[in-house]
Amino acid sequence: MIPTQVVAIDGPSGAGKSTVARQLAAQLGFGFLDTGAMYRAITWHFLQTGCAPAECAGDPDRGVARMRQALATAHLELVAGAVLLNGKDVTAHLRTREVESQVSAVSALSFVREAMRDLQRVVAAAGPVVAEGRDMGSVVFPQARWKVYLDAAPSERARRRCQDFARQGRIVSEGDVLEEILVRDRLDSTRSDAPLRQAPDAFYLDSTGLLTEQVVAMLLQFVRGTSAAGAS
Ligand code: DC
Repeated sequence: MIPTQVVAIDGPSGAGKSTVARQLAAQLGFGFLDTGAMYRAITWHFLQTGCAPAECAGDPDRGVARMRQALATAHLELVAGAVLLNGKDVTAHLRTREVESQVSAVSALSFVREAMRDLQRVVAAAGPVVAEGRDMGSVVFPQARWKVYLDAAPSERARRRCQDFARQGRIVSEGDVLEEILVRDRLDSTRSDAPLRQAPDAFYLDSTGLLTEQVVAMLLQFVRGTSAAGAS
């Protein structure tokens, strides 16, 4: 049975999903499932193994065989906000530009998506979760009790990403980040397997110009309102 006690939050890069989802989960007492971190961890593992898509471009068939092999030996765990890969905390490696340059290509691979989808369902079967990503409401949890599509204007998403980078001590131009965001939007929404897309029954929220606290408050109201309606 596919879990249903899920707040499924989808949306493009930089819409603020992780921050909002983490705070929402804490306020609801739900678990938090950052599925982008899972794809990033697998991408990092492929880079470590020397078989990431860009590294295998000359021999794609062999590349796929090596990635399948690397995936089979990757044991992922999400523990208290950290991502463990074969028992090692890899959280600090997930937001590097190297990972960011390859993660869209890795997340377009159906065999990777299938493994991640199964693991996401196992995590959600353990108890209610706020799960954020690109295909939570459309593919992984199609019967989720609450579905949200969180959006924001590209320029605002680029500005927020630059602030995140600045907090990590990385100074990057907003123009470059905007360009990368637009490329990822295109790759994530045009891939054939589970493209980024709003589920027809999702609550659409544009967070442009809103503070995180305002977005969290609106989503809490949505979840609690829907809960009350569903229980009556
Ligand atoms: O949300 P994020 O930026 O951490 O996601 C990293 C990449 O993973 C992004 O390019 C899209 C992909 N992704 C995905 O394809 N499906 C998900 N459920 C989550 C992320």
